[in-house]
Amino acid sequence: MIELKENITNNSIEKDYSKSISLSHRKKFAQFFTPFPIADLMAKWILGNPDLKTILEPAFGLGVFSRAILSHNENLSIKAFEIDEIIFANAKNIFDEFENVSIHLQDYMYNDWKNKYDGIICNPPYFKFHDYDNKNILKEIETNLNCKLNGFTNLYTLFLLKSIFQLSKNGRCAFIIPSEFLNSDYGKLVKTYLIKSKTLRHIFVIDFEENVFDDALTTASIILCANDNETSEVQFSNIQSINDLNQIQEIINSYPNKITTKQVYNFSELNPEIKWKAYYQKQNAINFKNLVPFSKYAKVVRGIATGSNDYFTFNQSKAKEFSINEKYLLPCICRAINSKSTFFTELDFEALKSDDKIVYLLNAVNSNDKNVISYLQKGEEEQINKKFLTSSRTPWYSLENRPPAPIWVSVFNRKGLRFIRNEANISNLTTFHCIYPKQTNSFTQINIDLLFAYLLTETAKQIFEDNSREYGNGLQKFEPNDINKGKMLDLELIDEKTKESILNLYKNYKIEVTENKNGEEYLKKINEIFIEKFT
Ligand SMILES: C[S@@+](CC[C@H](N)C(=O)[O-])C[C@H]1O[C@@H](n2cnc3c(N)ncnc32)[C@H](O)[C@@H]1O
Repeated sequence: MIELKENITNNSIEKDYSKSISLSHRKKFAQFFTPFPIADLMAKWILGNPDLKTILEPAFGLGVFSRAILSHNENLSIKAFEIDEIIFANAKNIFDEFENVSIHLQDYMYNDWKNKYDGIICNPPYFKFHDYDNKNILKEIETNLNCKLNGFTNLYTLFLLKSIFQLSKNGRCAFIIPSEFLNSDYGKLVKTYLIKSKTLRHIFVIDFEENVFDDALTTASIILCANDNETSEVQFSNIQSINDLNQIQEIINSYPNKITTKQVYNFSELNPEIKWKAYYQKQNAINFKNLVPFSKYAKVVRGIATGSNDYFTFNQSKAKEFSINEKYLLPCICRAINSKSTFFTELDFEALKSDDKIVYLLNAVNSNDKNVISYLQKGEEEQINKKFLTSSRTPWYSLENRPPAPIWVSVFNRKGLRFIRNEANISNLTTFHCIYPKQTNSFTQINIDLLFAYLLTETAKQIFEDNSREYGNGLQKFEPNDINKGKMLDLELIDEKTKESILNLYKNYKIEVTENKNGEEYLKKINEIFIEKFT
């Protein structure tokens, strides 16, 4: 048995385990461990329930939360669930001496629905949608919560949903989960439940600039709930450095009183339909007037998804190998790295082509060409036609109908959105989203350049940022709808003379960029014009 007494209040148990088990096994079960100082803070929230007798740890791992709780009170009764036999055996061994801790080798989502607890504490598994049995779990929740759920969600939000349901009167729950649910569509369900059940008390959004813990805990949130009638308000706090963790301690100590009234909202003020970053992050849009939804001027659609890029994409040598004629190949940008500049020209395309980069998509519909047919047969032999996307298409090798978009925007970004003018008029895979300007009477084709000039400015980036999703370490993701629903300046309000000056500056910018200079000073000037007109 590992000496629990010695190692109870640090992460050496987790460190030893991680060294002894492969990363692929840990990933399979989403085994990322909570740093002890954070587990201890969360335990203190649970311990603050004056009626505390029964505790549940739904995703036990090596029991960091139970260790934190037991280090303060050895006699509490803890029930735990764990699905992985290997970590379970380790945990059993570690908690051997504690008769008051019972660990069950069972799936939490399908068990224990009837029991209620005074304290529930958890770092649930975080999987992508397709990595778990979404359909059956949703059914299980619908049956037990007597509600109708639709669409995909993420398993960690379902753990939270179930745990809130299992709180006894005055029960408290503490979860540490990715912040992503606060700002994505799949989070709406749990956000609605947090408001409706009136149990949510605090959200601490951890946004460390540096990776201070081993297990990449940069954009997690700590959610504290209580099933009491002490308050009808929720407070959001931003934790930006390890020193801010003390704040959490003070907030917990003073509950139900608040030490500040900053970022405090009544349940009636919280809207589950919007991105909750509006409640905890400075919104850039408030600095500007005359904003309209981006969708007034353009539509953003995700790029072409093939279902099997390896099969459908081609470079020159692959086309030669399979004797596929160029007329069955659709010019397409397949990787973000292949278009580094703000302008993607025909020359760029030719350069990629002669460098043997992947620049084509198989466009085989209606082809009777024998080489194309034999390549399709090869695809069927490799069961490409049975894949998730291809199996739902007729024929399976047909491409999504996406005309080349005049503007692309990158999906993942570190320094704000990156827009590219597609002058080569080629298609794009999902590495970019397509932007199709709308052709309204007042906003005609000629002004695509005006729109693009605006999109390149700092102002556009800042306003869009209000709608991004944070992925940790400053990585932002934009889904098409994040941009469609994002705001932009109402370009229609710009008078003709100003329009002309912007377009002139843009022209100069483009010349500089084409000559491999950076042209930043022109963008700055364009930005200044927008700031002057719209603030
Ligand atoms: C993110 S880890 C957290 C472990 C530990 N509580 C901590 O915070 O350090 C999640 C744990 O839940 C387990 N797990 C995954 N799916 C589960 C399920 N459906 N029911 C119970 N446990 C599960 C994993 O094996 C893993 O040990």
